[in-house]
Amino acid sequence: MRVLITGAKGQLGQDLTKVFSNNNEVAAYDIDELDITDLDAVKNTVKEFNPKIIINAAAYTNVDGCESDLEAAFKVNALASGNLAKAAALNGAQVLYVSTDYVFDGTSDKPYLESDAVNPEGAYGRSKLEGEQALTSVTDKYYITRTAWLYGHGGSNFVKTIQKVAKEKGELKVVDDQRGSPTYTLDLAQKIKEIVENGEYGTYHVTNSGSCTWYEFAKELLRLSGIDAKLEPCDTEEFPRPAKRPAYSVLANEKLSSVGISPMRPWKEAIKSYFEGTDDK
Ligand SMILES: NC(=O)c1ccc[n+]([C@@H]2O[C@H](COP(=O)([O-])OP(=O)(O)OC[C@H]3O[C@@H](n4cnc5c(N)ncnc54)[C@H](OP(=O)(O)O)[C@@H]3O)[C@@H](O)[C@H]2O)c1
Repeated sequence: MRVLITGAKGQLGQDLTKVFSNNNEVAAYDIDELDITDLDAVKNTVKEFNPKIIINAAAYTNVDGCESDLEAAFKVNALASGNLAKAAALNGAQVLYVSTDYVFDGTSDKPYLESDAVNPEGAYGRSKLEGEQALTSVTDKYYITRTAWLYGHGGSNFVKTIQKVAKEKGELKVVDDQRGSPTYTLDLAQKIKEIVENGEYGTYHVTNSGSCTWYEFAKELLRLSGIDAKLEPCDTEEFPRPAKRPAYSVLANEKLSSVGISPMRPWKEAIKSYFEGTDDK
């Protein structure tokens, strides 16, 4: 099938491009080839390439930056999602929008179901939720995949930051009161492909299995990468940030199992394989 991928140079976009290119005709564009906030450009590109599906991995992902640059955040994460939905509807194409655990407020103490009430606390989460709505209000031929705590070889992320700080400073503190599910972009790209091939529209929670705190994640990744540094847990209060993060944003991947798709492997297996590079060859 013909697959149009936006945000193709992002960390998820690169793995999506790799995974879908195996047996599909892929057009992979980032902002320099297709700015998704430009409705005319989007319409022209979609008409010309005539994809069966548009996979939108483009986003304004700087969570703190969203608080101070609301206009850019909503333009890329929300308005542009509507642009893609409109162009898709005109051409009979499907759309997959990658969304986030930050649509939830994090006050739950059990994993969030796809059907649970959303209540984003920050601008990033609000703009992504608006992006979901901009899509669902235009077409029924959609997939929304909410994911969390992404890391991959092709971008800057928590894993690389922790390694860098640990090597440079030899000691670091990491928050131990926010819990979520670290998710490897290569695993996510493969699961997105399964979802699309399975063909059941709707909203999916898609993360590696299990959960941990950022401190526990840092501990495991430093152990696996053999970096000897002094790592200490701390509270979110010690590191005030412009955007409030959900304290608990574990996602129950219920829709996947309801359509007969297997859950993603445990996060510890995924981060091990990220370091070994065994799945990347
Ligand atoms: N990262 C996470 O932990 C996380 C967690 C949950 C959900 N998600 C979602 O997962 C998806 C992928 O995230 P990611 O970490 O792979 O993001 P990323 O690495 O920041 O990649 C996003 C890409 O989109 C591009 N982009 C920005 N504005 C654009 C525009 N107007 N037109 C076309 N492309 C544009 C970016 O280009 P520039 O770099 O030049 O701006 C970048 O290459 C996003 O939808 C994100 O919201 C991410």
